[in-house]
Amino acid sequence: MRIYSKILGTGSQLPERIMTNADLEKIVDTDDQWIRDRTGIEQRHVAGDGETTSTLGLAAAKKALEASGLTADDIDLIVVGTTTPDLVFPSTACLIQKGLGCRGIAAMDVNAACSGSIYALGVADKFIQSGQHKRALVIGAETLTRMVDWNDRTTCVLFGDGASAIVLEGSEEPGVLSTHLHADGGYDHLLNATVGVSTGLKNEPNGGLKIRMKGNEVFKTAVTTLGRIVKETLKANNMKKTDIDWLIPHQANLRIISATAKKLSMDMDQVIVTVNKHGNTSAASVGLALDEAIRSGKVARGDVLLLEAFGGGFTWGSALIKY
Ligand code: UT7
Repeated sequence: MRIYSKILGTGSQLPERIMTNADLEKIVDTDDQWIRDRTGIEQRHVAGDGETTSTLGLAAAKKALEASGLTADDIDLIVVGTTTPDLVFPSTACLIQKGLGCRGIAAMDVNAACSGSIYALGVADKFIQSGQHKRALVIGAETLTRMVDWNDRTTCVLFGDGASAIVLEGSEEPGVLSTHLHADGGYDHLLNATVGVSTGLKNEPNGGLKIRMKGNEVFKTAVTTLGRIVKETLKANNMKKTDIDWLIPHQANLRIISATAKKLSMDMDQVIVTVNKHGNTSAASVGLALDEAIRSGKVARGDVLLLEAFGGGFTWGSALIKY
């Protein structure tokens, strides 16, 4: 008998501080209308002093456990998607585990940039399917604004901070039907962070760490690649476009989201959109959208959800879920 990963509950946490497009107009040569028209973003949350990837992830995890009616002692695996760990090590997953007080269980980070949510879900799902782990916390947490170049208007208007968490439990009833993970490192030049530990930090503010992106080239590849993965996911499950109740996409750009919805012949009212309020929160974004969809009552038990994401690497992935 196949073991599925069933979603028991979700949670999310956003930093208190909100930065609007008007706030950004004071920092770089941009304007609210450009940002809205090109991205759909109206505001984003920015981590303040004392707020880190692990504190946001921990708060989201606690809310997901509460929604599941569980305590940390019921969990035996933590997988965190992040590109912005508090520290190189211990991993963010270990820091969150310490905060939850469930010491001894497996805990790891997965770095797949903006596809981190789907990658983390894919990894946890495989562990649960194997039967070796019973209940997992899948967390996506980021503080990308900490590595944004606030002088670069082509990137600084896009990103925001936040965290999301999903509790999965092994079940005989269908839950996660399939996950599909891909990467092509040949596109590293189009979207990257400029320095790392091994290449050496620079004697510059923030160690020279900045996000660099050739936005329009990333945009084009994202649209075609997401169209492909949606087809791959439906084919693997022998399903039609009309079998999907909700599209829960990575929230990078409303135009990319609309293009994917169009490929699925879906109406925008079947698509969860949070990019307007959150900006691009990288590995946190799909989980944030899922949590909002569940808590607002849009997504109901039994609905079929298609989650997808695309990001630096390039990495991309999808998950088809019977909620
Ligand atoms: O999640 C990870 C994956 N990342 C993504 O999926 C992001 C994908 N890319 C995008 O979302 C879009 O490419 C952007 C929103 C980043 C940019 O939109 P675009 O329609 O591709 O614009 P563009 O880069 O082609 O730039 C058009 C113009 C340029 O001016 P010129 O050369 O036409 O005079 C830019 O300099 O817009 C200018 N521009 C801006 N103007 C005002 C770029 N950024 C800004 C800005 N405010 N913030």
